[in-house]
Amino acid sequence: MTSPIPTLSLVDTDPAELAVDAIVIGVHSVNGDGDGGSLLLASGAESIVAAFDGRLTGTLALLGATGAPGEVTKLATLGTITAPVVAAVGLGPEPTGAAPPPETLRRASGASIRALAGAGTVALSLPLPDDEDAPAALRAVAEGALLGAYRFTGYKTKPQPGRRAPVGAVVVHVPDAAEPAAEAEITRAGVVARAVAQARDWVNTPPNELRPPQFADAVAAAAGEAGLAVEVLDEEALREGGYGGILAVGLGSSAPPRMVRLSYTPSSSGDAPRRVALVGKGITFDTGGFSIKPAQGMWEMKSDMAGAAAVTAVMLAVAALKPSVAVTAYVPMAENMASATAYRPGDVVTMRNGKRVEVLNTDAEGRMILGDAMARACEDGCDYLFETSTLTGGQVVALGKRVAGVMGTADLCERVKAAGEQVGEPAWPMPLPEDVRKGMDSEVADISQVNAGMDRAGHMLQGGVFLREFVADDVPWAHIDIAGPSYHSGEPTGYWAKGGTGVPVRTLLTLIDEIATAG
Ligand code: BES
Ligand code: MN
Ligand code: ZN
Repeated sequence: MTSPIPTLSLVDTDPAELAVDAIVIGVHSVNGDGDGGSLLLASGAESIVAAFDGRLTGTLALLGATGAPGEVTKLATLGTITAPVVAAVGLGPEPTGAAPPPETLRRASGASIRALAGAGTVALSLPLPDDEDAPAALRAVAEGALLGAYRFTGYKTKPQPGRRAPVGAVVVHVPDAAEPAAEAEITRAGVVARAVAQARDWVNTPPNELRPPQFADAVAAAAGEAGLAVEVLDEEALREGGYGGILAVGLGSSAPPRMVRLSYTPSSSGDAPRRVALVGKGITFDTGGFSIKPAQGMWEMKSDMAGAAAVTAVMLAVAALKPSVAVTAYVPMAENMASATAYRPGDVVTMRNGKRVEVLNTDAEGRMILGDAMARACEDGCDYLFETSTLTGGQVVALGKRVAGVMGTADLCERVKAAGEQVGEPAWPMPLPEDVRKGMDSEVADISQVNAGMDRAGHMLQGGVFLREFVADDVPWAHIDIAGPSYHSGEPTGYWAKGGTGVPVRTLLTLIDEIATAG
């Protein structure tokens, strides 16, 4: 069962008269020349400012508000307006354009809804542009609110007295609540937020509760319910199909590997639809195998199936949004353990596409299962191939915890970057240098899994270069390394809770939308 998300609706009546438990307005910081700064209430707050008779800005300043992004200042309204609480959320300096950028709104919306946990119904009256940017801004506010309310239920046996329930209903104030474009955004935001919550839930589930067979069953059940075509390859079918990489990684575990294939076919519209293939890494736990990982931080490797969770979540959303593009997901799943039956450094593995790989490090397991799945996707045929995985620590070293690394066909990498920028999931294109490939030449097989001398130089790029071997020549592809951005280990911020983030679900959905409409 997925963690619940709040209900979402639109309203266009006076915010000062809304019968809700709390109302959120925006506040900008104004950095004057003098000491300190002052505040500027954002548009959307006008009628509330009027009801406070000129005292609202000063009161917020007294309470310590600075307008800094993410800051939430709550104030009892004592009868000035209908709602008993006003929450002013910081939006940073007043933007030079007409309204703040979508990501500023998304984060502010998320932070305010999280800070108001315990309230039943919350209205948001944030600055929205009234031009062609309006839908994107509304989408950002709606998504931010629903994602900010997310909380993993967890496994505590006793109720937590201090814990306030997430907000149950969100009302977004817009100029015209009956406008079809606005209603469409609200519907879409609900679908997208449910998908992201599902991805986060799977990532946050402890690894003993989500081993490959269970994960495959859960994915198959959710996908079946959504109306997708589902096929589960068990260890037998994987053997028959020659999925050597998935099998090799799965050898060490008493829970056998799987590959789930999910497909969505649009209702026929004359022309054959474009075909998108999605591949996501589903390592339900990564000990490293015999190339074992250090104990410190190993528990975070329960998130090593974040790519699988993301592409499955995308499929669930696709089933509801029904874009005019065919989408198929390939989700290889295995548990990377050390045991008497595990694969070892020195093994040579024959992959699905016939290439032979020399294993040098059993901790480079992701590329083994992904290579097989990507080869299968290309056999089935596709016009675009997107693969996403928590593939390398090198991604975190190079780009940090927030920015994904993208490797593949140059054009498609640029499209991933642009889509990521739109939705607040930054991604940065990285090269696939020939010398890195050269370094992976094997003495005994077609390619080594990593640099033949175990040189960690260009660590993230080695992953991309390896995966390229499993993509058909004519297929545009992008590998999105999400080792950092898929999991948030710090304190909640913006619309991110601690744990799984659901990156890059919204990027992939944006790309699918784009391909459906423009190709
Ligand atoms: N799952 C890890 C990568 C990872 C690291 C994800 C940190 C999230 C946070 C992956 O399977 C792995 O172990 N990669 C190795 C590759 C190396 C052995 C070539 C790594 O990053 O060190
Ligand atoms: Mn590993
Ligand atoms: Zn891994």
